[in-house]
Amino acid sequence: MKNVQVNAIHLKDYIAPSFLVNHVDLEFILEPKKTIVTSWLKLTRNPDVGGPLVLDGDELRLLSIKVDGKLLETSKYAQDNSSLTVDGLPDTCVLEIKTEIDPALNTQLEGLYLSGGNFCTQCEAEGFRRITFYPDRPDVMATYTVTMHADLKSHPVLLSNGNLIDQGVGKNGKHWARWHDPFPKPCYLFALVAGDLACYEDSYHSGSGQDVALKIFVEHGNEDKCAYAMDALKRSMRWDEERFGLEYDLSIFNIVAVSDFNMGAMENKSLNIFNSKCVLASSDTATDLEFERIEAIVAHEYFHNWTGNRVTCRDWFQLSLKEGLTVYRDQEFTSDMRSAPVKRIQDVRTLRARQFPEDAGPLSHPIRPETYIEINNFYTATIYEKGAEVIRMMQEILGRDGFRKGVDLYFERHDNQAVTCEDFVVAMEDANDVDLKHFRLWYSQAGTPEVDTTWSYDEVNKSFTLNLTQYTPVAHGQEGKRPLHIPMTVGLVGRDGKDLPLILEGEEGKQGETSKTLRFDQEQQSFTFISVDQCPVPSINRNFSSPIKLSTTYSDDDLRFLMENDSDAFSRWDASQNYATRLVLRMVKTIQEGTELEYDSNYAQALARNIADETLDPAFLAQMLSLPSIDYVAEQMQVADFAAVDQARTFLKAGIARELYEQFLELYMCGKENTAYSPDAVSAGKRAIRNVALGFLGTLKNDPKGLDLIVGQYEVSDNMTDRMAALTLLASMEGEVGEKALKSFEQRYSHDTLVMDKWFAVQAISKIPDTLGQVKNLLTHPAFSYKNPNKVRALIGSFTGANPAKFHADNGEGYRFLADSIIHLNGINPQVASRLLSPLGGWRRMDGNHQKMMKAELQRILDTENLSKDVFEVASKSLA
Ligand code: PHE
Ligand code: ZN
Repeated sequence: MKNVQVNAIHLKDYIAPSFLVNHVDLEFILEPKKTIVTSWLKLTRNPDVGGPLVLDGDELRLLSIKVDGKLLETSKYAQDNSSLTVDGLPDTCVLEIKTEIDPALNTQLEGLYLSGGNFCTQCEAEGFRRITFYPDRPDVMATYTVTMHADLKSHPVLLSNGNLIDQGVGKNGKHWARWHDPFPKPCYLFALVAGDLACYEDSYHSGSGQDVALKIFVEHGNEDKCAYAMDALKRSMRWDEERFGLEYDLSIFNIVAVSDFNMGAMENKSLNIFNSKCVLASSDTATDLEFERIEAIVAHEYFHNWTGNRVTCRDWFQLSLKEGLTVYRDQEFTSDMRSAPVKRIQDVRTLRARQFPEDAGPLSHPIRPETYIEINNFYTATIYEKGAEVIRMMQEILGRDGFRKGVDLYFERHDNQAVTCEDFVVAMEDANDVDLKHFRLWYSQAGTPEVDTTWSYDEVNKSFTLNLTQYTPVAHGQEGKRPLHIPMTVGLVGRDGKDLPLILEGEEGKQGETSKTLRFDQEQQSFTFISVDQCPVPSINRNFSSPIKLSTTYSDDDLRFLMENDSDAFSRWDASQNYATRLVLRMVKTIQEGTELEYDSNYAQALARNIADETLDPAFLAQMLSLPSIDYVAEQMQVADFAAVDQARTFLKAGIARELYEQFLELYMCGKENTAYSPDAVSAGKRAIRNVALGFLGTLKNDPKGLDLIVGQYEVSDNMTDRMAALTLLASMEGEVGEKALKSFEQRYSHDTLVMDKWFAVQAISKIPDTLGQVKNLLTHPAFSYKNPNKVRALIGSFTGANPAKFHADNGEGYRFLADSIIHLNGINPQVASRLLSPLGGWRRMDGNHQKMMKAELQRILDTENLSKDVFEVASKSLA
């Protein structure tokens, strides 16, 4: 490591700010290379805390400081490269600070920067300090008035938070606008946009009769791709009123889409800024999954207005307070808009694919971390997705109404405050008169609990006993794990496939339930059900009631039985995943032993019975028929062997395709619709099942019929979902068919930068022999740019993160490529660079040879000059 200043921040060191800011006045004179920012901070000394005023600042040029209008002598303040300290201030004063910044040079995309010539900002988590000197911490909340001056012709649209209160035209072709946000907010929610943008407008009439003007600003030419996001916004507003009683609180709500953005979107008060990928959609340019994602992200950012903005975080250790809760809310929204079981399945897939590995690896941390070096590294699957699971468990424990009471009390107590995760849990406890002391451990303990289950049926006493044991493996730096309070929902499925009534021993009073949430809070616990008149198959952790890894003693027959009978859709799907994982792992062993692979047709037969079940929702069936990913299966191995898993999985898939050939053809042919494309969930489900069927057919080499269908679909489909599904299959085929399709796609969409991202990604996940060579060639394609995060993620990120068999190639080229990319990106955009790093952190699970190569690349990254804090933290923790 060279030139890195390492400074870990600890939760236990929290102290309240020495000064509070009552109001902020900001003035911007916007010029691409030289923007002048003047701030007037109305300060009050915090009586509880002593000390000087310390303001954060990063890459700012200080021009002047005044206190109550008088220039401050240089001896009265001290500046270093990250702060400005002012001593001897009166208890209240107005501090005026003038700084100069260079938005055009800002490739980190934090603070004020340019995207396609338009000015925009990104302040979470610590970007405001790159705009002006300020106590850049979420517990300093102030009202803001913002005045912007810019060139009228090139930047006709001027936006900031709150309401437009004044505007005018100035000299030399300039104009200006003034916005005022009446709600006190932390500076991470500040936003400004100045640019030449088209506006798509609508309005919303709230339950209490308020009218809200809704506007989506996009680059010219994209106006026709806003309708879906707008519709999602209106549905989100309605839903939040109905489900949580939460109404919008201003008469204007703006969304701006920009092409260059580090993340998905940002919830700035009344001025959400989005990655254009998460707003723009039309049938010709976006897939069903992208429509669904847009709907979820629009909702997520909108929901932040209450969970995040009105009530915010005291410090960044509390990030999950707003993110876990808001993800939970957007998940609930999607399950109400679409299919609840399918949504649950998708979310569990994501959790298992992203959060479980994170929690088992070198970057494992609790949902409320205790220390960090760079907060940007903590926008993780753990904070977001596991955080949402923790909220979901509380709602499971308290019931929907109890949970709602807790949320109501939380807002009653904490509106306009910056609070902690603890405050949220206390509101839940107080509103329901329960004790969640034990449950809180989920906030501080990292790692995925592993639950082992065994069971026995007592023929004589007609009782069924479930024995549960929990254990949380020691993750990095956390010893002595304690048992957690796990809400475990179970059912017992009788021989006829129907649920049996559940009577828990000792709770004879309650009757009629067929699913029950057990309180499992000790290392070992047994639960006995009585009056069970036949030996059932237990269905455990229904609807994934807790985010655990379950290990069971199911026989193959049990799993097939659950696949066909479980009344809980999630568990039915999970039995299928479980079974498929088992089969692939058995085959991996065969491959490693060098013996002949054998195909077991029982799984396909169980799938066939699902296909034949006409009561099943096509979207659900598509999930049932989607095999577990290579990563997920490899994750179950002591030493991961991606190549063998890939080979075994492909073998299984081809076997199923051969066996159910007629069924897949029929699914494909019968699902065909002649109506125009609609992105709704039901239509999307029909496309999903057809494309899953096509995917099976596509695994059959030398099957001209399947190939014809794929080529035909690519050529004639009227929507991106079907076109992309076909292209994905074609791009993995060697030779002319694949190349031809890729060429035609490139020509058709070369003008559309978001669609070109898909073109890059589909080539990066291809199975052709020299995928990496192809990816390297594409780095010089005119549409690729290291400065655009979407491009980097599409091409580099897809190869290193979504093509495991290629990434882990035995010659180590995949690793070298990733390290080279990170080293290059470190100087351009550290946040994007560090997010790419995680695949290298998985070296512990590889064989010795791969380990050696991966560690060498991590070391090479650490040896880089001028390594950013972001990359340093992830690389050093990964290697440790
Ligand atoms: N707060 C944003 C969200 O989850 C994510 C984000 C974080 C965006 C940091 C930009 C920078 O909605
Ligand atoms: Zn969020």
